Amino acid sequence: MSDLAGKHIVLGLSGGVACYKAAEFCRALIKAGATVQVVMTEAAEHFITPVTMQALSGRPVYSSQWDAREGNNMPHINLSREADAIVIAPASADFMAKLLHGRADDLLSLLCLARPIERVPLIVAPAMNREMYAHPATQRNLAQLRADGTVVLGVGSGDQACGETGDGRMLEPHELLDELIAHFQPKRLAGRHVLITAGPTFEAIDPVRGITNRSSGKMGFAIARAAREAGAQVTLVAGPVALPTPRGVQRVDVQSALDMQRAVQASADAADVFIAAAAVADWRPATEAGQKIKKDGSGAVPALAFVENPDILASVAASARAQSGALYCVGFAAESHDLLAHAQAKRARKGVPLLVGNIGPDTFGLDHNALLLVDAQGARELPRADKHSLARALVAEIAQRLG
Ligand code: CTP
Repeated sequence: MSDLAGKHIVLGLSGGVACYKAAEFCRALIKAGATVQVVMTEAAEHFITPVTMQALSGRPVYSSQWDAREGNNMPHINLSREADAIVIAPASADFMAKLLHGRADDLLSLLCLARPIERVPLIVAPAMNREMYAHPATQRNLAQLRADGTVVLGVGSGDQACGETGDGRMLEPHELLDELIAHFQPKRLAGRHVLITAGPTFEAIDPVRGITNRSSGKMGFAIARAAREAGAQVTLVAGPVALPTPRGVQRVDVQSALDMQRAVQASADAADVFIAAAAVADWRPATEAGQKIKKDGSGAVPALAFVENPDILASVAASARAQSGALYCVGFAAESHDLLAHAQAKRARKGVPLLVGNIGPDTFGLDHNALLLVDAQGARELPRADKHSLARALVAEIAQRLG
């Protein structure tokens, strides 16, 4: 995916051991289609060389405000006006204290101060020892930076290079990349709470066996990511899948359809949108054996009886909030043939304003899909694309219908 195609990023490095992650982050930016201009403080050059950053970015690194390579000798003006965003990663405690006071005694702080504040966002990724991060001075500075319009990213928690454990690690390169990509997405769902189900369910037969289905959860997870990128608060109720949680998404892991129903009921009252992307098992074994069912040597097979699972989507769609329009419900249909007819019938049967149809065997486990959106106005196709692009398009369609 070229999520950052056409974007020019000034990547600023201040002093900190997390500079080693900035090298990987720079590479990730380039792979995502961005062009990258690296600017380093003198302290950063103690941790990583400009040679490495030049090789990765494909451009000479700037570090001095007296750099005569620029025709007008004003690298702080030229570099900040070209940028679509300035990202400081790592942002040391000292560098943030400088930003806060508007100090400008080296090129990086100078270009941050000189940037056109309405047009060029400044995004900082703090990195420091846990005591430095927790210090009231640092926390005060972070709060003031936010108040001044700087986007202050979170920090990771865990083992630190100094040997201590706690908050203050810089986010990992892939997390920084996700944050930056999200930053550039239009905030179509700002202020909305989106509840999503994803993945299969697992219906236990006994403690070691059960029935499930081939849903990978990829489409539902992509929708969760896209909704969060669009500014929504997102709760993702996930059946058993081995997918990473999209950044900033609150995930609730469940196993069975009954678990999923309970988790959905717990969040539905606070939601503005409910998207049922899960492949919920239609039936579950009527009883779950407390112990593993053993072969008795006679060749006899166990007689399994099934009962129907509750229809989570239909019950949410029938709730008073959904009926009054306060909760917008979106269903999915995985079909094998006659997609339009089945999707229209399922939309009516589930009682939802929007139903999204897809051909199951053409998408299960894959990274791409094609969607057919069916609502009261008719049908509209979102042609085959990767699931992230489709998820963004679907989120835009939903946002438009919310008005
Ligand atoms: N769904 C649900 N709870 C269920 C079954 C389905 O919430 N117990 C939701 C799915 O998440 C999806 C939609 O309903 O959004 C369609 O599910 P599907 O299983 O395809 O439809 P069915 O009603 O089972 O119809 P059929 O088996 O005839 O295809």
